[in-house]
This record gives sequence, structure tokens and C-alpha cells, in this order.
Amino acid sequence: MKHVIDCDIKDPSLAQAGEVRIDWASRQMPVINLIRERFAKEKPLQGIRVSGCLHITTETANLALTLKDGGAKVALCASNPLSTQDDVAAALVEAGISVYAKKGEDNQTYYQHINAALDNKPQVTLDDGADLIATIHKERQNLIGDILGGTEETTTGVIRLKSLEREGKLLYPLIAVNEADTKHFFDNRYGTGQSTIDGITRATNILWAGKKVVVFGYGWCGRGIAMRAKGLGAQVIIIEVDPIKALEAVMDGYQVMNSREAAKLGDIFITVTGGLNAIDKEHFELMKDGAILANSGHFNVEINIPALESLALKKRRLRPFVDEYTLKDGRHLYLLGEGRLINLAAAEGHPAAVMDMSFANQALCVEYLRKNGKELAPKVYPVPKEIDREVGRLKLLSMGITIDALTEEQRKYLESWELGT
Ligand SMILES: NC(=O)c1ccc[n+]([C@@H]2O[C@H](COP(=O)([O-])OP(=O)(O)OC[C@H]3O[C@@H](n4cnc5c(N)ncnc54)[C@H](O)[C@@H]3O)[C@@H](O)[C@H]2O)c1
Repeated sequence: MKHVIDCDIKDPSLAQAGEVRIDWASRQMPVINLIRERFAKEKPLQGIRVSGCLHITTETANLALTLKDGGAKVALCASNPLSTQDDVAAALVEAGISVYAKKGEDNQTYYQHINAALDNKPQVTLDDGADLIATIHKERQNLIGDILGGTEETTTGVIRLKSLEREGKLLYPLIAVNEADTKHFFDNRYGTGQSTIDGITRATNILWAGKKVVVFGYGWCGRGIAMRAKGLGAQVIIIEVDPIKALEAVMDGYQVMNSREAAKLGDIFITVTGGLNAIDKEHFELMKDGAILANSGHFNVEINIPALESLALKKRRLRPFVDEYTLKDGRHLYLLGEGRLINLAAAEGHPAAVMDMSFANQALCVEYLRKNGKELAPKVYPVPKEIDREVGRLKLLSMGITIDALTEEQRKYLESWELGT
């Protein structure tokens, strides 16, 4: 008899369409597939409960199925109200995973869904932005006794966890997956780089060549977006607050200036700072008629939308994910995806091939927490180096690339201090 899976999704009849897309993504995810095969045989997660707050995409589906095949009871909710792929949610429910997520859900439903995923009484939590972890710390501390540990996927989430740790309020051990080299070097840079351009293109169908693109933040994501925009023929301007990153941007060949100067020049503005109000009222006042605004940072606070609303006489939706604001002086500004991460709102998020590495880290960290969580103090931990290197090794292997190894003589040389000129 088929068990009824508890869930709250948009439309169960989309399951078949979702299954096909999940299968397509899996073809680009050789590392997670290898882990899934091993998990299915060894069942390292047998009987544990896992609750995840992640973007419900085809790639996340492959991670969730890997954990399930490893023996875990998995419940998922969305880590952003706009990032759920409803067909994927339906397919996961069909596969026996409890999903609480609907694309376009309001804030209240978003938190109801987090609480529903927590009713799974997790022993391991997975988070992307730390909303699930924050809910446990604020409202559901009764769950802590069962929790072995958790993982956090993104820069913004890790910042929040470190703040909890600094204040002495962190209640269980967490692994910062974002800090694995095989995560942020690739996912944040190549993943966000490509998919942000993809999201903006799908939403607007603009031509990038010849446009002035202003990127706020030259961290891992900003580097990727700048690189890809330049590759399409745009003139890229970088806004930074960190002098070293700003210098790096100059030497990488970009124009660097302050945000007020850039506000007058830009055709497209993209924020990836992880911070608050990078684009503010003073910038809207200086922008050209027709400027496009998009965010790819984790939360929708990087563009000051209330300030934009206060300057506008009129707002209308021109296309899905494109809102036109008509300002009092007659200029039009276009806000994409309500200021939410545009690569997930208007496109499909990162390509599967890059999520393969991020989620391989996630799966191996869940296994690690199952084995070692009880011994860990409530702190933020890096991904164990051996997991990070193993993910890199398997990815290269899957690409058919072999690399050299140090000879014994070379290794000794690198470890010694005696030899000089
Ligand atoms: N869209 C996605 O799929 C996706 C993927 C990965 C990460 N993220 C999110 O993107 C954001 C950036 O991540 P990252 O890994 O690049 O972080 P990062 O820390 O590497 O880079 C952020 C950069 O922004 C700069 N900055 C901060 N405030 C600024 C301001 N007001 N003006 C200009 N520059 C400012 C910082 O100096 C830093 O160099 C985070 O919120 C992260 O969670 C999104």
C-alpha cells in the first residue's frame, strides 16, 4: 500500500514533468550520482530524520533523493518564496519526500512551511540562508535535543551563523558548506555568474553587448557576473567597499568608481553584496530613464524597494518578473523579480553541473554529522578538508581529467627548510 506523504505543494499532477527534469539534471551531476549509488548500498543515513530549507530545484531534488536512498526520512521547504519549481516539488512528493513549498508563496506561508518541515523533528538540518536554523533558535528550541548538527549552503547564511556563534547563542554544530573550496570557487562564481545573466536575459530579453552593467560587490558572485557580462560585450563597472577587492577589480580590467557616479551611467544594476540597501534612494534619484535593477544576493534587501516605491507615482507589471516604476519626474525604472535572487526567480538557478559539487559536499557532510555530530560542540565548522578534496577529485575524474601527483622527492623538498640557493 502506498503511504500518503504529508506535503503542501501547488499541483501534484505536475509530478511526471518534474521527474523528467530531475532526471535531466542528474545527467550533469556525476559526483552526486556516485555518492547516491554508494548511499543506496551502504545506507549510512538509515533511520535519521533530515529537514532541509533549500531552493526546490531539480538539483536539490537529486540531493534529497540521495539522502533518501541513504536511508534518511527527508522533509523539505523552500529557502525563498520565489525559487520553488512546482513540478519538482510534485515529483519529490511522488518519490516519498515531504515537501512544503509553492512558487510565489507569501511570507506567512513561507514560515508555515518552515515549521511544517521542522515537524519532521530533524536530527540533521540543511539550510540555505539560515531561515530554518533561525526559526529553531527563535521558536523551536525544544527540537535541539534530537539534533546532531546541520549544514549551511550560502554566504549570507554563514554570516548569520557566525553572528549567532559570536553572541554565544548557537545551540548545535553547523558546517559551513559555502566555505568549501569546491563550493564557493565554482558555485558562487561560475554558477551565479552564468545563471544571473540567464535570469535577467529571460526576464527582459535585453542585448548585453554595449550595455553599461554596474555590479555591486566583487566577491565570489560579483566576480562571476562581471566576467560573464564582459564576455557578452558589456562595459562593466564595479562598486566595492573593500579596497583590496576594488583593486582586484581594477586589475581584472573593470572600471571601479563610487556608487553615486555609477548610478548616473548604468543601464543594468546588479547587486551581490549580501548586505543591506546597496542601491538606495539617492541612487534611484540619479539613474537614467530605463535603467534595469536586479539582485542576485540571498535576500531581497540589497535594493531598497520601499524607497523605490516611495519615489514612484505608478507601478505596473510589464512582463513576468519585470515591474515598471514610473517616478514623479517621468523616468521609468525596471525592477526584476521583486528584488529576489533573479537567477532563481526568472531562470532555473545554477546549472546542475556546478550544484553537483555543492550538493556532494552537503551529502557527505550529512554523513559526517551522522557519524561525528554527537562529539561536536555548538560551533560553526568548515567542511572537513578530506571531503572538499574528495569532491574535487571525483569531479575531475568525471570529466576524464587526470592530474599529476608530487613525487616523493618533490614532497620532501616542499616540506623541508634546509635547502635554499
Ligand atoms: N544567486 C545565487 O544563486 C547565489 C549563490 C551564491 C551566493 N549568493 C548570495 O550572494 C551574496 C554574495 O555572496 P558572495 O559569495 O559573493 O559573498 P562575498 O562575501 O564573497 O562578496 C560580497 C562582496 O560585497 C562587498 N560589499 C558589501 N557591501 C557592499 C556595498 N554596500 N557596496 C558594494 N560592495 C559591497 C563585500 O566587500 C564583498 O567583497 C550573498 O548574499 C550570498 O548568500 C547567491
